[in-house]
Amino acid sequence: MDKIVILTGAGLSAESGLGTFRDEGGLWAQHRIEDVATPEGYARDPALVHRFYTARRIQASEARPNAAHDALARLQRAFGGEVVLITQNVDGLHEKAGSEAIHMHGTLAGALCAACGHRWTAPLDMTPDTACPACHGTTARPDVVWFGEMPYFMEEIADHLADCTLFAAIGTSGQVYPAAGFVQEARQAGAQTIELNLEPTDLSRLFHSRRIGPATRVVPEWVASLLG
Ligand code: OAD
Repeated sequence: MDKIVILTGAGLSAESGLGTFRDEGGLWAQHRIEDVATPEGYARDPALVHRFYTARRIQASEARPNAAHDALARLQRAFGGEVVLITQNVDGLHEKAGSEAIHMHGTLAGALCAACGHRWTAPLDMTPDTACPACHGTTARPDVVWFGEMPYFMEEIADHLADCTLFAAIGTSGQVYPAAGFVQEARQAGAQTIELNLEPTDLSRLFHSRRIGPATRVVPEWVASLLG
């Protein structure tokens, strides 16, 4: 049976109005990674970290999935084999489009207690005063993976990569590992590989083929070609 594994990144949600990280004027041009996306930054200034993620949570809650999210949901429903979506995005737009996705970098909709590890649904406005419902400590953090932390579901992902027949990376710059290494894992498993992105990336040469253009155009075209 054919099994397609698809890795998505911030470029997929760009046309839903959510900024990417590394494009011109992107999030990492406006904020220092060390301040807002590391455990050390959170320990130093939790209020700053909460303000950053609360702004993103509110923005994501108002965003709508675009034609690329919709096409991937269609593929998951209609493809004859298995379609596994792995996303680095924390915005929840795959679910709004009706897809199931593996959230390797967590999700803005989740809260995680830094003290006891309890998980619950994040309030839209999370602050340093947000208490953990389990241990009552004011140690709530967004349930997102920060630099220096291990992404989620890595064993499950390795298993999917080991037996996929087609691997696609969509709207991701390939700058962040371990996700950037998935194309090589898939190739070692004998899969065909394709990159769909607005522009070539540093990893482009590792893929068998490419579709260059905005996700809302190239993803529906690619899905249509797969569904015949
Ligand atoms: P990046 O911002 O690094 O890359 C976004 C990619 O999307 C770039 O290659 C753009 O060319 C492309 N792109 C932009 N607009 C597009 C469009 N309309 N259609 C198609 N492609 C488009 O974002 P990611 O690769 O997702 O991690 O970043 C990976 C991780 O780095 C994130 O999950 C986040 C970040 O730091 C953490 O915070 C841990």
